[in-house]
Amino acid sequence: MSDLLTIALPKGRIFEEAIELLRRAGYRIPPDFDESRKLIIEAEEEGMRFILAKPMDVPTYVEHGVADIGIAGKDVMLEEERDVYELLDLQISHCYLAVAGLPGTQLNEVAPKIATKYPNVASSFFRAKGEQVEIIKLNGSIELAPLIGLADRIVDIVSTGRTLKENGLAEYEKIVSITSRLIVNPVSYRLKDKIVHDMVKRLTEVVQKQQGGL
Ligand code: PRP
Repeated sequence: MSDLLTIALPKGRIFEEAIELLRRAGYRIPPDFDESRKLIIEAEEEGMRFILAKPMDVPTYVEHGVADIGIAGKDVMLEEERDVYELLDLQISHCYLAVAGLPGTQLNEVAPKIATKYPNVASSFFRAKGEQVEIIKLNGSIELAPLIGLADRIVDIVSTGRTLKENGLAEYEKIVSITSRLIVNPVSYRLKDKIVHDMVKRLTEVVQKQQGGL
């Protein structure tokens, strides 16, 4: 295990809010973060190093201990069910998982097709409702599936609702609210407890301040 605290950050929509939060908590994040295409960036002054991963992979890096800490969406946590501790709801990147499809359509087939990036979440959701479905795993642009006839419904993230609207899709059911979480490797939690607790404390203060200011 490296002496530097390794933090896995998700590339993409959570990234900027996560960096902003760390900066507000007083961490001196190198400026080249904002432009570089590097995947490992050291913040030596802070004794930290950041790795930039695909959002769905962040809990994997943390579970395997190559990252001590990570920032991951609750959607990813629910889908991946990795052996990591979830320490703090960072209250950033608010969105939700929902079932959507072409408007005014009924699910009366024997096994309707559900396209999603979240096969585990979607299976559990429909199983809990006693509905038998066929899950089709996609990696992005999920909204395409009902438009082109690949699936009857999708299970996907809704943030502003713009993607559904601009593609003429309707939301049928909300599944679960999502925010980003601070996660930690269980061994790092014990061995690097001081620095981990300090980070949780500083981030909690920022989150509470932001909540208070809403
Ligand atoms: C996500 C999600 C939706 C969209 C929702 O996709 O899968 O497609 O954002 O956001 P909205 O409600 O604000 O329109 P993302 O942009 O991450 O890309 P992807 O299609 O490759 O998954």
